[in-house]
Amino acid sequence: MSRWAWVDVDAGAIEHNVAVLRSFVAPAEVWAVVKADGYGHGAVTAARAALAGGATGLCVALVQEGVELRHAGLACPILVLSPQPPEQMAAAVAAGLALTVHSEAGVAALEAVGVSDHPVHLKVDTGMHRVGASAVEAVQVAARIVASPATHLAAVFTHLAVADEPGSPFTDVQLARFDDVLALLRMEGIEPPLVHAANSAGAIAHPRARRDLVRAGIAIYGISPGPALDDRVAGLGLRPALSLRARVSHVKSVRSGEGISYGLRHTFGRDSTVATVPLGYADGVPRRLHTMGGEVLIGGVRRRITGVVTMDQLMVDCGDDEVAVGDEVVLLGEQGGQRITATDWADALGTIAYEVVCGLSERLERRVTTPGEG
Ligand SMILES: Cc1ncc(COP(=O)(O)O)c(C=O)c1O
Repeated sequence: MSRWAWVDVDAGAIEHNVAVLRSFVAPAEVWAVVKADGYGHGAVTAARAALAGGATGLCVALVQEGVELRHAGLACPILVLSPQPPEQMAAAVAAGLALTVHSEAGVAALEAVGVSDHPVHLKVDTGMHRVGASAVEAVQVAARIVASPATHLAAVFTHLAVADEPGSPFTDVQLARFDDVLALLRMEGIEPPLVHAANSAGAIAHPRARRDLVRAGIAIYGISPGPALDDRVAGLGLRPALSLRARVSHVKSVRSGEGISYGLRHTFGRDSTVATVPLGYADGVPRRLHTMGGEVLIGGVRRRITGVVTMDQLMVDCGDDEVAVGDEVVLLGEQGGQRITATDWADALGTIAYEVVCGLSERLERRVTTPGEG
């Protein structure tokens, strides 16, 4: 072991989650979103587990991410979800990555690298207003894709802004706008072979969004897309795949009245046993977690992080309990029947669980605990 802090990745859980989603959204397919290093789980590990669970395609954000999957020997369809710099086109083509295109310039960039019949997915902006062609532009760009010898229209897709808020009428607005675009394309004689719209929340909460495939990210890692979907995620039996663990590196007694960590922001009200844990904000444990009531598990007991989290280490108040160097510490995950989730951190920190898992830094080794069947 290179250090006393690591990330465990339960690949069997990812495989299980994809299999569950697959039967839930059938006949739609599941394409697993493994961008940002598989939401911090390890892109290749996540991709292999997802394919073993029945995913039929993969989605990434960057050409480099798709190239990494090809280097690992993965041969399935891989879609790059957002527009990429023209300089990346040659690498994307060489790796056989389907590209997102939303403008005629995107088609021209592919033509410039001398490719033929390259699969592109036309992105339509139906209200998220991040990237995508407007309804009017979509028809022009689709016609350009179809007419160009460089490209073929493999799919038309959109992205939902509030699918994790099942009460919001806006998902229906987006889907209606999307259907209008598909109807306009049909009037021009353009029938894309694939249509897709749903992220995890869309797949779980909006049957109308499922179409030919769903692009499932957060749910394949066993994490709820948002508080309004927690019960549904639990009902489906999705299992968190990631845990963040460490070992106690030092134990000491601190006297009542003493302060701790930078700024001495916490003063002990009684003599306490304090455990030092070799994890810090450089690993993705936010510095302010201590002020937001952050806890860890040691010996199956929830214990408060005390004092500010430093770059490489944090301290835990263990009260009167006996704790020893080498004891296991769980920051995210389960120990002794207790569980701390990425959603717990997110709620405390005023963010979303996506940011928590994506924020775990590269210097933490990912150890695959259960490889699954694939
Ligand atoms: C275009 C697109 N599709 C799908 C996803 C997957 O979303 P989720 O992780 O909520 O399933 C993302 C993630 O941000 C995305 O950007």
